[in-house]
Amino acid sequence: MVVRDLKNTRRTGASIEPMFTERWSSKSFAEVPITADQIASLFEAAHWAPSAGNRQPWLFVYSTNGPDRERFNSVLNEDNSRWAPKAAMLVLVFARTVRDNGGKIRTAQFDTGAAWMSLALQANRMGLNTRAMGGIDLDAAYDVAGVPRDTFESVCAIAVGTRGTDDNLESTLAGENLANNRKPVNEIAFQGAYTGRPNNSS
Ligand SMILES: Cc1cc2nc3c(=O)[nH]c(=O)nc-3n(C[C@H](O)[C@H](O)[C@H](O)COP(=O)(O)O)c2cc1C
Repeated sequence: MVVRDLKNTRRTGASIEPMFTERWSSKSFAEVPITADQIASLFEAAHWAPSAGNRQPWLFVYSTNGPDRERFNSVLNEDNSRWAPKAAMLVLVFARTVRDNGGKIRTAQFDTGAAWMSLALQANRMGLNTRAMGGIDLDAAYDVAGVPRDTFESVCAIAVGTRGTDDNLESTLAGENLANNRKPVNEIAFQGAYTGRPNNSS
């Protein structure tokens, strides 16, 4: 049986693996716990991401329930507090920006982004939904997660769990519960030089 995602009408302009358009970030989460095996698979996928010098500067600190989870929820801004507490797991994401020798890891955020995408794609393949959030108290996240401010940058949070329906969302958010679209590729990829306007070569 083909299971269609009725919330996702994305169309591509060139042939790609379906996993890229099948991943989208719903704000709706069903009340289904995440298992230890699922959590292990998510971070396993994340940690195979490429990074400059193979430094692997990403750091994920996560919580599923209990008092820990209440502390994690407390970093969410008002908008994100309307839906993210329902996700089975909340992950606080940090990027290590300082090397052991004191030098800077210039690409720490870039590398950490690659790890997040690996986690998100793995989650989608396992039937799980993810949504990243920059809308958190980045400073409070250090204390909540026990992460030192002098070595790491606080980046964002990620909500992870089983996708819910519109009924799992407050009514004002239900209309936004759809996979969104993208700019045309000819605005983001240029052959030779950036011209500042859409090109015809990509
Ligand atoms: C770093 C980052 C920060 C984000 N911050 C928020 C946020 O604070 N709240 C929210 O609802 N969505 C947030 N999003 C989700 C984006 O809005 C979403 O990924 C984007 O619209 C593309 O949609 P898609 O993920 O469904 O493809 C964030 C995504 C990323 C990658």
